[in-house]
Amino acid sequence: MRAVRLAETSGPAALRVEQIPVPTPGEGEVLVRVRAAALNRRDLFITQGKYPNIVLPQTLGADGAGEVAAFGAGAQTELKVGDDVVIDPMIGWGDDERVWDGRTSSLLGMPSAGTFAEYACVPAANVYVKPRGLTMEEAAAIPLAGLTAYRATFVRGRLQPGETVLITGVGGGVQTFALIFAKHARARVIVTSSSDEKLEQARALGADLTLNYRTTADWHKQARAAGPIDLAIDSSGGDTVAKLLDAVRPGARIVVYGGTVGEATIRMFPLFWKHVDLLGTSMGSAQDFAEMLAIFEEGQPLKPAVDRIYPLEDVVSAVERMQEASQFGKIVLRID
Ligand SMILES: NC(=O)c1ccc[n+]([C@@H]2O[C@H](COP(=O)([O-])OP(=O)(O)OC[C@H]3O[C@@H](n4cnc5c(N)ncnc54)[C@H](OP(=O)(O)O)[C@@H]3O)[C@@H](O)[C@H]2O)c1
Repeated sequence: MRAVRLAETSGPAALRVEQIPVPTPGEGEVLVRVRAAALNRRDLFITQGKYPNIVLPQTLGADGAGEVAAFGAGAQTELKVGDDVVIDPMIGWGDDERVWDGRTSSLLGMPSAGTFAEYACVPAANVYVKPRGLTMEEAAAIPLAGLTAYRATFVRGRLQPGETVLITGVGGGVQTFALIFAKHARARVIVTSSSDEKLEQARALGADLTLNYRTTADWHKQARAAGPIDLAIDSSGGDTVAKLLDAVRPGARIVVYGGTVGEATIRMFPLFWKHVDLLGTSMGSAQDFAEMLAIFEEGQPLKPAVDRIYPLEDVVSAVERMQEASQFGKIVLRID
């Protein structure tokens, strides 16, 4: 089969499409014929050596959708060969809904082999029926980013209808889901981005107020002036978190799940004086994944924001697009 392999951490150009044997599903696993896979910032970070526990050579990719091809011994599932499925990349979350178990949990695509290949082996518990109204490419765009955004918005962020949420860097894969979910939950949504074009795309998805953080240095003050902000969701880090502490109302929640531009320095005063809940989150449990996927089954015309679809052979161009931060939403690989 064809697979995207990484043998050294010298950047996206080190990715190679190679021929390797089709894997055999192990005990409790399902073999999936992957039809589409999606990129996450994590895949770029892995090519750059900026990720923990890198084991090379390896097949990358956390997100995928396709068809069930075969079962390993003892795989507990009601799925049949040929069923259309989508993969939850969070393996071994554990029993505690509050936090993953660091001893058992891992993500598909590092250290284990991932979805940028014609076939992938996945624990049976991580394979879900694909939402009927979505194409393979749309379904593949959902898993890691949708799961992270769902937990950030609803489980950690506790967003309620009618509340206002501020989403920073809306062009990102996870943040576009936060926007889609927040509008679905009938919240008022303020977004920021480095690009006016991306802000226009965000307005098309329902964003109520849009601010360019590149050209508007005091975007946080403008957001605050537009009414009380109950929740902020961020993955950029840097000086954004300090600005969010300034922007949100007393008693608000700020949820963070990444630090794309680096570490954050914050002032302590607004944190304690305003009684702000500063909350960390990562990925999500199986319960979160099932609830998140159900949103796409509810008969709503809800779709993930797919930026571009590349054939598997063009994986280097696809990852370079992410490196340039040109995308709005998810970059997808089609695996014919
Ligand atoms: N903890 C977890 O479980 C988890 C899960 C998924 C992702 N993450 C992390 O979350 C981050 C985003 O991941 P992703 O896959 O969504 O990446 P992505 O699609 O590449 O999105 C990154 C986005 O960050 C935004 N950004 C860059 N500089 C910014 C700044 N100064 N202020 C505000 N926003 C800025 C950009 O938004 P604009 O283009 O709109 O400016 C860019 O689109 C990464 O650091 C990733 O490692 C963590």
